[in-house]
Amino acid sequence: MDKLVSLCKRRGFIFPSSEIYGGMGACYDYGPLGVELKNNVKKAWWKAVVQQRDDMVGLDASILMHPQVWVASGHVEGFADPLVDCKQCKQRWRADHIKDGKCPACGGELTESRMFNLMFKTCVGPVEDEASVAYLRPETAQGIFVNFQNVLNSTRKKLPFGIAQMGKSFRNEITTGNFIFRMREFEQMEIEYFVRPGTDEQWFKHWVEERFNWYTNLGIKKDNLRLRQHAKDELAHYARACYDIEYLFPIGWSEIEGIANRTDFDLKQHAKFSGKDLSYFDEETKEHTIPYVIEPSAGVDRSVLAFLADSYDEEKDKEGLRVILRLHYALAPIKVAVLPLSRNEKLLPISREVYNSLRNCWMVQYDDAQSIGRRYRRQDEIGTPFCVTIDFQSLEDKQVTIRERDKMRQIRVPIEVLKSTLEAKLNGEPLDILPPGGKKWLGFEG
Ligand code: GAP
Repeated sequence: MDKLVSLCKRRGFIFPSSEIYGGMGACYDYGPLGVELKNNVKKAWWKAVVQQRDDMVGLDASILMHPQVWVASGHVEGFADPLVDCKQCKQRWRADHIKDGKCPACGGELTESRMFNLMFKTCVGPVEDEASVAYLRPETAQGIFVNFQNVLNSTRKKLPFGIAQMGKSFRNEITTGNFIFRMREFEQMEIEYFVRPGTDEQWFKHWVEERFNWYTNLGIKKDNLRLRQHAKDELAHYARACYDIEYLFPIGWSEIEGIANRTDFDLKQHAKFSGKDLSYFDEETKEHTIPYVIEPSAGVDRSVLAFLADSYDEEKDKEGLRVILRLHYALAPIKVAVLPLSRNEKLLPISREVYNSLRNCWMVQYDDAQSIGRRYRRQDEIGTPFCVTIDFQSLEDKQVTIRERDKMRQIRVPIEVLKSTLEAKLNGEPLDILPPGGKKWLGFEG
């Protein structure tokens, strides 16, 4: 974890929030590379669960919602952790994380546990009183439930169908630390998938498989991912069944996503508290039903951490240590780096021309500082799949070298097919398939 945290800070992936003021507990900021990586994770999720499916639509609901939402959902009453205070050093702990009944910091005596609600309260409007209290949403899910009828009426979707949403959630977490694993402000990617009662178990299985495969398709090693079924006494009040997808983080096996069968709990609760009909009219059976809901709920930040941890690699070579982020191409913050061999002014026009033509398509970096070896290392460390090198021979033959990150193999291609070649390679075409006029250059032996 220390290596990752240091790389994230040094290379501009993730910074502690408000660092110049000493930081803000369990809040983090995504830097220039981090925001690209995080956006790519969200794009990959949206593509898989909305763009490529006929049975899914998207939503972007507001963070502030009517306070009754959280009464109906059970959060006002029950979204709480048991807490204990140390009588000696005054530190506060989650009672369920205490092993021997003593304060983990100083060994002091602890108070009786009491419940502490995790929702952040705020006031809406100019008057601060009980009537103006609102909450920062602790999950995005409820924004979907309260829009169920709106989406149904406007899209005319038939069961089974789902609504996907990603966005910020807020929890006043007590146990923090472990970098972006547990934060007070974080992002979720949630799906509420509405099905006919009786088909819920089959759809639950479908979503567990789909979601597990999403991570492995984006490069997470199978050995580092597992499913864990919740025991009956672990299930949330609304859930009939739940599986966690766990990743082997540097801190050990921990949840990255939960998939729950929420039954008809939420729609029934919101119908009861709002007085609105939230049933689905089945054209076939001519009956009204309250759909059951399967909920795959993932954390954006935990996914980012898992993709970073899984792709981090080190290789010893004659220059020392090569650090590589072997990120899936779809997730890499920078897809291509354009590297003129030197700052010689003869190379400048052709290098800028290549750079300008590629940046239209992808996030591309131009780097001409220090030796070419150093620049390759810098790109490896941030996970850039391809470097394009322009040398003096390029002026003569209008060809450039493409160097790939993982095995450092090189091919030489005409500039006129550079863009199409990179596009094919970024889409997964093997490097040894050459474009017209291309040549295998280095690293292919064996
Ligand atoms: N709607 C269901 C729900 O919110 P959850 O298990 O509490 O379920 C879902 O949260 C996911 O959100 C988790 O698997 C995790 O990835 C992410 N998550 C939850 N709390 C988090 C926190 N404090 N910091 C970062 N991610 C968090």
